[in-house]
Amino acid sequence: MIMRELRAPHKPTLLSALVYTLTLSTFLTASRAETEEAPQPEPPPPSIDQIVAALADADAALALLDKLPKIMEPSDLAQLREIDRQLSTKPRVERDPIARKLLTVLARTGDSRSLGYLHEVFEAAPERRHHVAHEIARFALTQRRRPADWRLLVRAVPLVDGEAARDVLRALQQFNERGTKPQWQREVILAGLRLGSPDSQEAVRVLRLWTGEAIDDGVAPEDALAAWQAWFDKTHPELPPPTLPVDLPDSRHKAVELVKLLSPSPDLGDPERGAKVFEKALCNKCHRYGARGEALGPDLTNIRQRYQLKELVEAIVFPSQAVADQYTTIQVRTRDGETYSGVTANDGNQLIVLQANAEKKRIDRSAIDEAVPRRKSVMRDGLLEPLTRDEVVDLFAYLRRGER
Ligand code: HEC
Repeated sequence: MIMRELRAPHKPTLLSALVYTLTLSTFLTASRAETEEAPQPEPPPPSIDQIVAALADADAALALLDKLPKIMEPSDLAQLREIDRQLSTKPRVERDPIARKLLTVLARTGDSRSLGYLHEVFEAAPERRHHVAHEIARFALTQRRRPADWRLLVRAVPLVDGEAARDVLRALQQFNERGTKPQWQREVILAGLRLGSPDSQEAVRVLRLWTGEAIDDGVAPEDALAAWQAWFDKTHPELPPPTLPVDLPDSRHKAVELVKLLSPSPDLGDPERGAKVFEKALCNKCHRYGARGEALGPDLTNIRQRYQLKELVEAIVFPSQAVADQYTTIQVRTRDGETYSGVTANDGNQLIVLQANAEKKRIDRSAIDEAVPRRKSVMRDGLLEPLTRDEVVDLFAYLRRGER
């Protein structure tokens, strides 16, 4: 009681003193700012609601996203992932700078759920894979190395170019894991070739680490990758040579041009007409698509969920660049001197050879003299060449049907 009585009269005084001090210091700071440029106090980080409200204005949203701190509340991170999920239903999400920035923000938090989300995006959205891989590479280079990320980075090697390729190769050098599969080593060589000197050195370092060999010892840096190419060629004569694919001379449908034509406009072409082209070009003799076609090559029904456009184009224009083990071409020579080559399947005491002209040849096992793997895919180069540009566009519309 007494205390209260004593204090009561002081309160207003204290308050006004406080107000006075605040006003004074504001005044002082303001006048000092004019003369001495005192550091401004840090503005509070933007709220997620502010970011949501700014989404219609890309520049504003990007500026806000840049100001987010590295450490965030789990609920805020969940909201950011939700924003990304919403954006990913938009067409051409890989071109959306906000979606790109969201990946950056989520990766740099190092939050395991958010990194897990990046892995989900890698699986579900082929067109965003190179962006995801670049963020995971940066994360591995600047923060932590997680075994799950290593596998993603290895898978991304064929998909990345330029700065992303350089960072992915650098990140791979930080891990203790070794890529022992020849196919992976081949992709590292190809990535180095795409980068060119001097960044191709990053590929050389990965190869040294993975193989424990120093093939390029004593070789000038600009020739180091060539030494590895020669090494691979000799060590793996059964695999496609480690060289960048080139279009057929005078090709009507060059890979780069097709990607350039098709990537900005997913709605180009007519899938119904494309279904007819699929038969005209004999694709259906070796591939299933939905209920149609034969299943001797890979099923192409869901190819759009597995491959980004560039991969799809390259798989068709350069079929021999990457051939999965079960589709290795086998050249069979019979005792009476005939040779057949193609994808093989066993049927009792007979071997079925599916040849490049899509004809099946049955050979009795007892009649086989030798069977050796070949480097070329049974799917021939130049299958698109007889087609017009419009037909090719329709064929891709068919293969990419349902892609958003
Ligand atoms: C003679 C059989 C044959 C014909 C004809 C053929 N392909 Fe293939 N295709 C294959 C085989 C075998 C593979 C797997 C080996 C490889 O990647 O080359 C393949 C691979 C592919 C792939 C990569 C699939 C994957 O999962 O990696 C695509 C895409 C493809 N073919 C599209 C086509 C299209 C489009 C046509 C028609 C223009 C066509 N193919 C004609 C046999 C054929």
